[in-house]
Amino acid sequence: MDQTNNITQQFMAMGIDPDFISMAGGLPAAEFYPTAAIAEASEKALARWGAGALEYGPIEGFAPLRRHIAERIGRESGRTFTIDNVLLTVGAMQGLDLIGKVLIDSGDRIVAQFPTYVGALDAWRPRLPAYEALDWSPEGSTSVEALKATKFIYTVPNYSNPTGALVPTTARQALLEKALEAGTWLVEDDPYLPLQYDGPAGPSILALQGRMEPEGPYQGPVIYLGTLSKSIVPGLRVGWVIAAPEMIQALTLAKQSSDIASSMLTHAVALELLEAGREEAHVPSIVGHYRQRRDALCRAAEAELGEWFEWETPPGGMFVWMRKRHPAIDTDALYRFALEEKIAFVPGSVFDPAAQLRSAMRVNFTRNAPAVLEEGAARLAKATKRYLKSNY
Ligand SMILES: Cc1ncc(COP(=O)(O)O)c(C=O)c1O
Repeated sequence: MDQTNNITQQFMAMGIDPDFISMAGGLPAAEFYPTAAIAEASEKALARWGAGALEYGPIEGFAPLRRHIAERIGRESGRTFTIDNVLLTVGAMQGLDLIGKVLIDSGDRIVAQFPTYVGALDAWRPRLPAYEALDWSPEGSTSVEALKATKFIYTVPNYSNPTGALVPTTARQALLEKALEAGTWLVEDDPYLPLQYDGPAGPSILALQGRMEPEGPYQGPVIYLGTLSKSIVPGLRVGWVIAAPEMIQALTLAKQSSDIASSMLTHAVALELLEAGREEAHVPSIVGHYRQRRDALCRAAEAELGEWFEWETPPGGMFVWMRKRHPAIDTDALYRFALEEKIAFVPGSVFDPAAQLRSAMRVNFTRNAPAVLEEGAARLAKATKRYLKSNY
């Protein structure tokens, strides 16, 4: 059994003990879910579409929602997209899975932002790709020549999972230009776009390409993934892929053999929510709460963990990426001590295709209230002290 499975099982066990604090998952705070708005949208969707919302739908998803998403991404990115550029998926996660099915053959090279989102690594692992770390610097190892031998690039430029880092616009532009020159697909995974705490996120790479060619059918190398999981609720399982029509067709065929079609009912509900402006109304309130939680965690960590770890306060997203300052720390080993103190984080090795990254850990701040995060930081400090003591 590999480490990811092990950790997933341990996370599930934690849910059973009410005293356990998990700062591991990438979960929104359930107490802020817009349940009443979703109930209202469900009723309206059924009244509006009747049995049509309860059928097997088209594989590409409910056409009115595809159109809505095409228009929205068009507004955000300053270029026109049509319904043929949109595939609705069961969360962004299904988009990643389908990209793996369509693009990866055994041994193919993927240049991926490092450390890498564990869901992408999991989705692509059965296809046996080879990974190289994406180097954002203009003269770095991610050269046009290197990209010519690469199947695709994978990046989360807005508030990456796991680091929370925001990639500067100049680096995004430079990468786009290299991908265009090399003729490489560029997968831009953007679930954290709505969670901005310190000013705006950068323009998406899709939007940067839009500025270069605002007119005509979109045929570019960017395969953009979006989702309602972080801005409304993960349980809707509504995500989308924006790409050139040929890529959308290939992904659609792959989706057909995965699940026949997504749920039309959730698409119809999502459409009601978006048309009524519920997402725009909801995001500022969760952003306010999450900013407070981020600050509470960073303050408590400064007091409790500053001796052993360092980090940058993330400008958005859901995670603080804590890197060791103390040379003896191995986050895989520390994890076992943390579980004994009833606290969990995600060790860095999970985000490394080679499972070697043991100098850092991902700590979530969105799921728990500030007082719980403070207690979590104190437990982590206890675990670290015990772990270091056991080492000497
Ligand atoms: C980088 C990244 N991509 C994709 C996903 C999957 O999101 P969804 O709930 O839309 O499937 C996540 C979820 O945490 C994520 O962090």
